Amino acid sequence: MILVTGATGNVGSHVVRQLLEEGEKVRVMTRNPSGHAFPDAVEVVTGDLTQPETLSEALSGIERTFLFPVFHGVDGFLDVAERAGLRHVVMLSSVSVTWPEPGWVGEVHLRLERSVEASGLAWTFVRPDGLTTNDLVWAPQIIDGDVVRGRYGEAATAPIDPRDIAAVAVRSILDGRIGEGYSVTGPQSLTQIDRVRVIAETIGRPLRWEEQSEDWFRDEMARAGMPAPGINDYIDALTARVGRPTEVLPTVEQVTGRPPFPYAQWVADHAAAFGSASA
Ligand SMILES: NC(=O)c1ccc[n+]([C@@H]2O[C@H](COP(=O)([O-])OP(=O)(O)OC[C@H]3O[C@@H](n4cnc5c(N)ncnc54)[C@H](OP(=O)(O)O)[C@@H]3O)[C@@H](O)[C@H]2O)c1
Repeated sequence: MILVTGATGNVGSHVVRQLLEEGEKVRVMTRNPSGHAFPDAVEVVTGDLTQPETLSEALSGIERTFLFPVFHGVDGFLDVAERAGLRHVVMLSSVSVTWPEPGWVGEVHLRLERSVEASGLAWTFVRPDGLTTNDLVWAPQIIDGDVVRGRYGEAATAPIDPRDIAAVAVRSILDGRIGEGYSVTGPQSLTQIDRVRVIAETIGRPLRWEEQSEDWFRDEMARAGMPAPGINDYIDALTARVGRPTEVLPTVEQVTGRPPFPYAQWVADHAAAFGSASA
């Protein structure tokens, strides 16, 4: 039995699906079981990673887990896990931990990685660049009109499909890839403007990027609930990426044996979310 936390999320939901496809027995943990639909084959338990006293049932009989990196900290989870007999933690992290200046987000993930290392459990870290799913933030604008408003349109990332992050995590769990820190990217360096162009081509409608002021951008992120240090960090990261292609890493293919999904494929698979009737 493998425990998947974050099982209702972009990455964890694919970890669940892919483990089931591999014939594994899966237990998922969520704070709100009645709010989500899971495949029939999975065992569903309630738990909150920030409340260790809720985790015993989730961890009972579990030797391997996919761990969602709650910013609050994972020490409580690790204590309960060790007592329950857990052997291997595969934790979602962030590529920013590898940067010379990790910034606020990188420092948070570094602290989480250090907690896992200090626990004495076997570990693997999967460290993605920006997720393709971040671009769903543009969906309401695209449904409403032909203009996508944003900031740092020329900033490039190598957006990665959560299916690929999950695939690296699944191989890490099933192959016992212990002590590895896998930085993972999608297959192309794409600016935000490039990505809007790909969405336009895929859904068959003209779309135009409209650059906004930094104040506008800060307000938008604050409205979305991002804490102030996270906003500063995100702005720094985007500024550093303007006019500079991002390195594309071979990790997904090296670990899984197949190349990562192109951005256009992810868009095609989510065209309905962008208002395309033909999806
Ligand atoms: N977005 C990016 O570009 C990016 C880049 C690098 C790294 N990352 C990492 O990836 C994470 C996002 O992953 P995602 O997109 O798969 O997440 P997501 O779709 O936002 O889902 C969040 C998941 O975390 C679970 N969760 C949150 N708080 C919890 C708690 N207190 N106890 C138990 N479960 C909790 C939720 O479960 P329930 O609600 O069901 O309980 C849900 O399944 C980021 O936080 C970051 O660490 C993201």
